[in-house]
Amino acid sequence: MSVRERLLDRYGSIKLKLGVVIVVGVLVSDVAAVAAIELGVPLIPAGALAAAVALGLVQVLARGLTQPLREMAQASRELRRGRFHVRVSDTRRDEVGELARAFNAMAAELAEVDRQRRDLVANVSHELRTPITALQAKLENVADGVEPADPETLGVMLAQVERLGRLVEQLLDLSRLESRAEPFERRPFAVADILEAAAREARLHAPEGVELRVEIEGDPVADGDPERIHQVVANLVQNAIRHSPVPGEVRLVGRSGDGTVTIEVVDQGPGIPADEAERVFERFYRPDPSRAAPSGGAGLGLSIARWIVDLHGGRIRVEEAEPHGCRMVVELPRD
Ligand SMILES: Nc1ncnc2c1ncn2[C@@H]1O[C@H](COP(=O)(O)OP(=O)(O)O)[C@@H](O)[C@H]1O
Ligand SMILES: [Mg+2]
Repeated sequence: MSVRERLLDRYGSIKLKLGVVIVVGVLVSDVAAVAAIELGVPLIPAGALAAAVALGLVQVLARGLTQPLREMAQASRELRRGRFHVRVSDTRRDEVGELARAFNAMAAELAEVDRQRRDLVANVSHELRTPITALQAKLENVADGVEPADPETLGVMLAQVERLGRLVEQLLDLSRLESRAEPFERRPFAVADILEAAAREARLHAPEGVELRVEIEGDPVADGDPERIHQVVANLVQNAIRHSPVPGEVRLVGRSGDGTVTIEVVDQGPGIPADEAERVFERFYRPDPSRAAPSGGAGLGLSIARWIVDLHGGRIRVEEAEPHGCRMVVELPRD
């Protein structure tokens, strides 16, 4: 900040600054006029001289006022070209400083959105490539006659196609949720029905030895879209089964509380460490591969679950189960 700007920055508002500039201008022009007349300059040239001096001074002082605006205009052009790292100086205390701070916050936000977009594209490409590569290798082997097209080989290929299908389904879900193209149909529904249905479906593909138990306390009735909540619960149960020891038990608990209905999915697996309790809800987040359960998904399930629960005005979080295991807690508005 130049001396000139610092001089004016004592005043916290543009109005005051302009006032100061005008008063100083008028004073200087008066002094100049009086001095010129004293020196014997005729009235009209003296007036013109005083006006010129005042104008020059205002030019100099006002530059400090408009400089940051010019800087912001330049920075906006940079933003438009996709250079989201530009920042403007935002140390002034007046309205222009306020605008500059808002501008910088907006630029930071844009930079973050841009980073997320890049990450998303990179992650999606990576997730799509893995099954496609595996599928291609198998197909090439079959085409070259290296491997027979027997049920086993076809089964491996089918699993990859299924994985691709699931991934695309989840991506569509995410984009629909983010654009809110699909409004929720809210209505009161019995939590017990959802949990029973989720448990029934999960039993079909749970490994032998993993028991699913539904526990209902009271008569919890939630207000929301039962289809979507079912999707959330199914996702949680799938994770729980995948991390459950064999033999083991996965509990689906429903209860009603103060203004909320709580759904819990509890397993006896290794649980989620506290420092990852928030990160698991990020898109594509999977903890270090050595700990991840095999045949995991793309790391989208929990981020979709959080979107759905958030849109309901509810909350979802991870807790530790006793003595060990993962407890997923979903709170929804009560009917
Ligand atoms: N019940 C659980 N027990 C232990 N870890 C879990 C559990 N549920 C989720 N996680 C961890 O959170 C990560 C993200 O879960 P999710 O978003 O459902 O992705 P995905 O199931 O596709 O890996 C999982 O990769 C897993 O490491
Ligand atoms: Mg999952």
